[in-house]
Amino acid sequence: MNPLRGIPVLEDLPSVEGKRVLVRVDFNVPLHIGVRGRATVADDFRITAALPTLRWLQDEGAEVVAASHLGRPGGAPDPRWEMDPVRERLQSLCPGVELTENLRFDPGEKANDPAFVQRLIAGFDAYVDEAFGAAHRSHASIVGPPAFLPSAAGLRFAREIEVLGGILECPARPFVAVVGGAKVADKLEVLKVLATKVDTLIVGGGMAYTFLAAKGFDVGSSLLDESHLDDCRALLDSGVDILLPADTRALEPGGTFGPPSVGHGPRGSVKVIEGDLPDGWTGLDIGPESAEAFAEAVGQAGTVLWNGPLGAFEDPRFAAEMDAARAELRSQHRSHQRTGPRNGREVMPKDNPFIGEKKVAARSETENSKEQAGKRDWTARRGGTANGLERGAHTKFVTAGSSH
Ligand code: 3PG
Ligand code: MG
Repeated sequence: MNPLRGIPVLEDLPSVEGKRVLVRVDFNVPLHIGVRGRATVADDFRITAALPTLRWLQDEGAEVVAASHLGRPGGAPDPRWEMDPVRERLQSLCPGVELTENLRFDPGEKANDPAFVQRLIAGFDAYVDEAFGAAHRSHASIVGPPAFLPSAAGLRFAREIEVLGGILECPARPFVAVVGGAKVADKLEVLKVLATKVDTLIVGGGMAYTFLAAKGFDVGSSLLDESHLDDCRALLDSGVDILLPADTRALEPGGTFGPPSVGHGPRGSVKVIEGDLPDGWTGLDIGPESAEAFAEAVGQAGTVLWNGPLGAFEDPRFAAEMDAARAELRSQHRSHQRTGPRNGREVMPKDNPFIGEKKVAARSETENSKEQAGKRDWTARRGGTANGLERGAHTKFVTAGSSH
C-alpha cells in the first residue's frame, strides 16, 4: 500500500504561478563559531535536502519564502540563534528564496498560538511542509497553516514517508535498526515501535547512556535522562535483541567538545573506556569494540534503518567510529542514501506505527547543543533502489483534515 495515502504532494497544489508560497523547512543546522564569534553553517545537509522543493516551486513561478526554527531560543530573540548564517548559505544555494527570522523567537510558535498562525500566513497563497525532522512538533508553523491554506508535503517529506513506510511494511531480514542521537525522550516512541519490527535494535549516541544507566552502569557525566530510565528498562526487558555500546570514547572531566574552532577549543584528553565511566568523564562516542560489534550486525542485515548519530561527530575526535560503521554499511549494502531530518513519528496515517503521543522532556542548553551536533542519518536496504528516508513525523494538511 502507498504509505502516502491521502497526503497531498506538490502536484496537488493549485497553480502557484505568481503566488506566494510559505515553506516550513527544518534548517535546524549545526553552526560553527569562528573568529570573533562569527557563526557559519557547519553542515548544510538539511538545507540541500530542501532545495528540490524550493526550486520546484520557483520553477512553477512561485515567490518562495522559507521559515524554520534554529535551536531552542525559548520564545524570545536571541543573537545566538539568528538565521543570518543559514540565510547566507541558503542564498548561495538557492538565490531568490527568502528566509524569515527564527520562528522560535516568538512564543506563539511553540504555543501554537492562533494569532501567530495568522501573522505567519498573512499574504501567502499556499503552504508546503518540507520540515520532516520537525513535523512531530505541534507548533504553529507546522500545524497552523494547513487549516487555512492549500497545503502539501514537500518532495523530501513525501519521499521519507514513502520509503520508511515501505521498509517498515516489508523489510528484507534480518532487519537491523541503528538509533542514535541525544534525545532519548524524543526517540522512545520510535524505539518502542521499532522493537516490534526489527530483529536487532542497536542503540548508540547520547541516548545510549540512559540505557546503560538503566542496566546499572555508571555513566559519569554523560547525557542521562533520569526521567526515562524506567522506559529504557522496560525496552531492555521486552525481549527484543538490543545491542548497546560495550565501550565508549570519553572526554576527561573539564574537557570541551564541538567543531574545531579557532582559539578556544575543543580541549581535553579522550580515552576509550569499557564498562563503567569514572566520575566526571563524558561519553561522546562509541568505542572500537562497539563499532566492530555494530558493524557485524549491520553487515549481516537484509535491511538497515539508521537514525541519528552514534557520536558527537562535529568534533573529529568523536566521529571516527561512526564513520567506520558507515563505511561498513556502505560496503555491505549496495544501495544507500544519506538522509537528513530526524525525530519524526506521526505523519503517517492512523495505522502507521509511528503514531503515538509523545511527551517532550525539557532539556538543558548542553543537550541542545549536543542535539545540534547530530544532523545525519543513513538508511540502507540491500539490493533496493533509492532508499533514503527520514522517519515519520506529524503534520496536518487541509485535505487530510487531522489535528494534533
Ligand atoms: C531536530 O533537530 O531534531 C528538529 O529540528 C527538531 O528540533 P527540536 O527537537 O528542537 O524541536
Ligand atoms: Mg530531532
